[in-house]
Amino acid sequence: MGQFKSIKITPEAIEAINSFQLPEDLSFGKAMAPVMIESNYDNGVWEEFRMVPYQQLTLDPTCKALHYAQEIFEGLKGYFTHSNGPFLFRPEENMRRFNLSAARMAMAEVPEDGFLDGVEAITSYCSQFIPVSSGDSLYIRPFMFATENSLGIKPSEKFKFLIVASPSQAYFKSGSVKVLVENDAVRACPGGVGHAKTGGNYAASLLSMINAKNKGYDQVLWLDAVTKENIEEMSGMNFFAVYGEKLKTPKLTETILNGITRKSIMELAKHLGLEIEETTMKVSELLEDVKSGACSEAFACGTAVIITPIDTLGTGNGDIYKLQHAQGPVAMKLREALLNIQEGTGDDPFGWRKTLKPLS
Ligand SMILES: Cc1ncc(COP(=O)(O)O)c(C=O)c1O
Repeated sequence: MGQFKSIKITPEAIEAINSFQLPEDLSFGKAMAPVMIESNYDNGVWEEFRMVPYQQLTLDPTCKALHYAQEIFEGLKGYFTHSNGPFLFRPEENMRRFNLSAARMAMAEVPEDGFLDGVEAITSYCSQFIPVSSGDSLYIRPFMFATENSLGIKPSEKFKFLIVASPSQAYFKSGSVKVLVENDAVRACPGGVGHAKTGGNYAASLLSMINAKNKGYDQVLWLDAVTKENIEEMSGMNFFAVYGEKLKTPKLTETILNGITRKSIMELAKHLGLEIEETTMKVSELLEDVKSGACSEAFACGTAVIITPIDTLGTGNGDIYKLQHAQGPVAMKLREALLNIQEGTGDDPFGWRKTLKPLS
């Protein structure tokens, strides 16, 4: 059992690590680490959590996840910048959110030590494959899906939990992004599953993403489903606007994912002397404020994108609003402060960084 008490490290996993060659071209989420963590839930119990070689799965065509989308996931990073680490950033937050998503999607909760030891084991054993430039990382993807086989629409009683990991470069290649306000389609509605990290939320966002790309934008900004007036978030990141020394962000509702980066930025910003306002943000007011310069910056934040300035906001009727400080001096200051904590190049006044031992 060794250091990760709840994970069995199989000899096949060690062999897979020893014979693995990291591809040269990594980009984001494409190259996969040679091992994964696996466990199955059946008859009310989880079997032993194991580290095994990364491999394909065999599924019955009637596996419920394929038909009824009973599936959840998380995303977090392991850091080994300039051979400093490996570190994780607030993994308990991901574990808690995973089990909140599980509860909303009528799925079994995963034991806390299985989740956390699994994340730590894959990071420690794969630390030699973590790219070392600032902004690069091991992107870690815990996920779970329904494995009961039958076409009846009812909650599955069997689940598979896996953790895979991808040695990755930064998510966005350029320094800032263009964001299109989505005035028609909606991502999440009250009473729905917007606050859960479940695949259907992302599937629902893809058509708008294609439309936005075709118009030259990188991302979509979602509005609330009822009034289509209030800003919610982007498809995989939360939203902030900068007003002088104040940061404004949409207050959490059941249609917004409670981002760990969002939460951390709010604490960090206060620590750096900035004011925070969590509020209902009308998109019409924001766009007016961008035009007048009252809002000088806006940025996207999330585990994958860290903090990325928004240089342009566009609307469905073709209006374009350029941010005065397109390269985001406040955003970049926060990004640096956050990365210093995550990558171990600065103090960690909040105790967010978890230091692991490199293994293998
Ligand atoms: C819809 C959505 N919003 C926000 C975020 C940012 O969350 P976090 O900062 O925890 O990565 C994510 C990414 O996980 C997301 O998928």
